[in-house]
Amino acid sequence: MTVADSSSAPGKEQWGSRIGVILAVAGSAVGLGNFLRFPGQVAQNGGGAFMLPYFISLLILGIPLCWAEWTMGRYGGTRGFNSAPGIYSVLWRHPLAKYFGALALLIPLVIYMYYVLIEAWCLGYAYDYLVGNLQLGSEPAAYQKHFDEFIGMNANGFIYEGGNNKLFGILIFTFLLNFILIYRGVSKGIEKFCNVALPVMAVCAFCVLVRVLTLNPEKVVAGLGSMWNPNPEYLWKPETWLNASGQIFFSLSVGFGIIVNYASYVRRDDDVALSGLTASSVNEFFEVCLGGMITIPAAFIFLGAAATTQGTFGLGFNALPNVFAVMPGGRFFGFCWFFMLFLAAITSSISMLQPVIAFFEEGLGLRRHASVVLLGLIAAFGTAFVLYFSKGMAALDTFDFWVATMLIFLLALFQTFLYGWVFGIEQGDEELHRGAHIRVPWGVQLVLKYISPVYLLAIFIGVCYTKGQAYAQTLSQGGVPLYAVVFIGSIAAFLLLLVHVAGQRWKREGRISA
Ligand code: ALA
Repeated sequence: MTVADSSSAPGKEQWGSRIGVILAVAGSAVGLGNFLRFPGQVAQNGGGAFMLPYFISLLILGIPLCWAEWTMGRYGGTRGFNSAPGIYSVLWRHPLAKYFGALALLIPLVIYMYYVLIEAWCLGYAYDYLVGNLQLGSEPAAYQKHFDEFIGMNANGFIYEGGNNKLFGILIFTFLLNFILIYRGVSKGIEKFCNVALPVMAVCAFCVLVRVLTLNPEKVVAGLGSMWNPNPEYLWKPETWLNASGQIFFSLSVGFGIIVNYASYVRRDDDVALSGLTASSVNEFFEVCLGGMITIPAAFIFLGAAATTQGTFGLGFNALPNVFAVMPGGRFFGFCWFFMLFLAAITSSISMLQPVIAFFEEGLGLRRHASVVLLGLIAAFGTAFVLYFSKGMAALDTFDFWVATMLIFLLALFQTFLYGWVFGIEQGDEELHRGAHIRVPWGVQLVLKYISPVYLLAIFIGVCYTKGQAYAQTLSQGGVPLYAVVFIGSIAAFLLLLVHVAGQRWKREGRISA
């Protein structure tokens, strides 16, 4: 494959190599979800019992939907579109199709707004390890205090009052780095960066893993047991199933609108079947074999069983620094851990920007620099919102629930309908196998048409039933959660308007029929 990257000419970009696209998709998938969210979910949902619904979701939702997204993305790309509103419009010649595409822009954009902040926390911690600021002794409270002060957990607006200039500086650096990579384009920016970042991440993760597993063999076994021994009670709880499928979606970046965009830069006869499977497998390796083996065993060995149930941020930012403080060579391993988290996060966050950049270019006819500036302003506004309402992470949690839980289920549901019922599984199967190096069993198509939508619908109703009520109640009390939902609604309305404008333009140009 040859490089055909042209950063400023809309619709002309392509990946430079097959391994490049696999690493870019894997880079998008491997992120904070693998190293922070996954261990937290396992520990809180019955250990090994969580893994059964997790693997079922991987097989009937995660991998089939990945293939569907790769197939639809390449199909749209070969017909001149890289953004979801355009791709959905060529797959479904209906005026509504493009508006569903707005959902595939809203999701990555809103997730980016808070994800980049967590990315900056990771870089801040890596820096602190490098300069020796994070050896705070063996008192867990010291790490909690450091974290709370660093992120402004106790007061809104803390960061803007001169309280935490360091985080502010690191956030600006992280934010700019994302946009510089995006500005450079798919091949010269995203692909080149992922080609280096993924191997470095793997090396850092291996260093920490080997250190943890060679600490104290007996305790390591007990630590792994605490993570993997199944607590069968949890299998009967609907939440375990909901959380398992939510984890699969978040982790594989399925239902984000990212894979359709990335796959649209693949050539017509390039393999997508094996590439999709390889990228998903790389993600699972990072998640289960690396993410799952580091955090919980380490916390268990040094801090005991109670420390393993601290949840996503508690484990990564409190328990582990506490562990690094008491382990030999802890400063070095602490740096490796947080630098690896930073790399994992940035390869994911750039993938959240690209779908919107592609839309600004092909939908509004903007050049690369104008798209980057416009997106930069919108994203900065959202990140400033999350940063300001830092107390109790209220804004971050609200964005995360409504977008990274509810909306990704909705988008995934729409995509199964689009693939299975509009595009059609016969055409889907043929398209998936063009240039394919493997044969995907026909059963996968049947799963996509009949099983995935039903399973997704059941889960969506389950989420509404179990969590929606509590969140709706929180909203009715007003305050930050309500502002956050209004904020998301405003961004959605703005994107819908832009999609409408783009649709008129594409129709005038004869690129879409409805
Ligand atoms: N897939 C990305 C992650 O796991 C978003 O963090």
